[in-house]
Amino acid sequence: MTYTELSRAELEELREKLSKEYRAYCESGLSLDLSRGKPAADQLDLSNALLSISSEIDYQSRGGMDCRNYGDTYGLPEMRGFFSSLTGIPAENIIVGGNSSLSMMYDTLSRAMLFGVADSPRPWCREEKLRFLCPAPGYDRHFGVTETLGFELITVPMTESGPDMDEVERLVASDASIKGIWCVPKYSNPTGITYSDETVRRLASMKCAAPDFRIMWDNAYFVHEIYGEGDFLLDIFEEAKRAGNENRVFYFTSTSKITFPGAGVAMMAASDQNLAQIKPLIAAQTIGPDKLNQLRHLAFLRDADGVRAQMKKQAECIRPKFDLLLETLDLELRSCGIADWSEPNGGYFVSLDLLDGCASRVYQYAKAAGVTLTGAGATFPYGKDPCDKNLRLAPTYPSLADLASAVKVLITVIKLVSVEKLLEA
Ligand SMILES: Cc1ncc(COP(=O)(O)O)c(C=O)c1O
Repeated sequence: MTYTELSRAELEELREKLSKEYRAYCESGLSLDLSRGKPAADQLDLSNALLSISSEIDYQSRGGMDCRNYGDTYGLPEMRGFFSSLTGIPAENIIVGGNSSLSMMYDTLSRAMLFGVADSPRPWCREEKLRFLCPAPGYDRHFGVTETLGFELITVPMTESGPDMDEVERLVASDASIKGIWCVPKYSNPTGITYSDETVRRLASMKCAAPDFRIMWDNAYFVHEIYGEGDFLLDIFEEAKRAGNENRVFYFTSTSKITFPGAGVAMMAASDQNLAQIKPLIAAQTIGPDKLNQLRHLAFLRDADGVRAQMKKQAECIRPKFDLLLETLDLELRSCGIADWSEPNGGYFVSLDLLDGCASRVYQYAKAAGVTLTGAGATFPYGKDPCDKNLRLAPTYPSLADLASAVKVLITVIKLVSVEKLLEA
């Protein structure tokens, strides 16, 4: 029987029982964290060879460059080749940066503000109004970048197959102040879905009022499979080229969750015309990235097969945690009719939808019982979930035992808050 089918008396009885359980958790002094989309220590251990590999590798690149010195502003050719073999993007269209793809995204949009992009009539900062499409639930840091740079954030609903494309097409067709859209196309943060072929094709070919509209294609989880062979994602560059919109795509990824977050290697890719505009600006900004880290990563990961082998090991660490979380949600909440959640094949997150108006209270109650969740609203522009119902669960960082304890508390809290809401209605 679902909670909505219970009588008032039954709900009150349930509230009593759940409150008692909840109070016991509050008194047990837990300190658990489900908020961080970070690898756990056992995952980081998988890359420890990177810490000692420096003394084993020659510091020369394949082309004979001394990687201890300045040079190769856009990355070592072999590192660009490495990312090319992983992404299918020609090496000439790839720029390897520092340790963070997020900072490459920030830089890309900052440059657009200051100088425009390849098809801009003027720098974006000279436009009267700037807007950016933010599919939500989405990644809070994306929204933060565009908010910081002064864009008005426009929420677009996420569906099972990607952003609601009817809405995206409607908005971009008529509003030239909409300069772009954020996309995490594979194992999306946080819903875990992968964009359908149709979504990729529509994004690549849609008519945009802005001549310099850009897709921020953040493929952060491109090799991050957990279950099965992995989701298929259509090549957006191919589709954009076919539609005559090659310049529309800025592509990003990194090895952050392949090796070490914060000490990995990031890349971006773009069309020839985009790179012709961007490269001199990058050359003015830096004399080059950390090539020794690129050499270390090449020596450690070697090639696409090496990455796949590494990601199988990563999945073995992560899978038991996703299994535990998903099985517990299923067992405890499926029949109650008070929550719905994503069941991703990869990535780092499970997106949880509660009854309307419950997310903030669940966050607060969980916090008081010693379980930290990602803030309610964080997955929406300006940190405001209009229905106050979405929470992002990140099961990778705690140990399996801590995760089990945290999920138990969470289940009680969700049930209690839902019962309270139903009684208030
Ligand atoms: C969608 C997405 N993009 C980018 C990042 C950060 O990537 P990087 O470490 O390369 O800056 C994250 C980190 O969680 C993420 O979830």
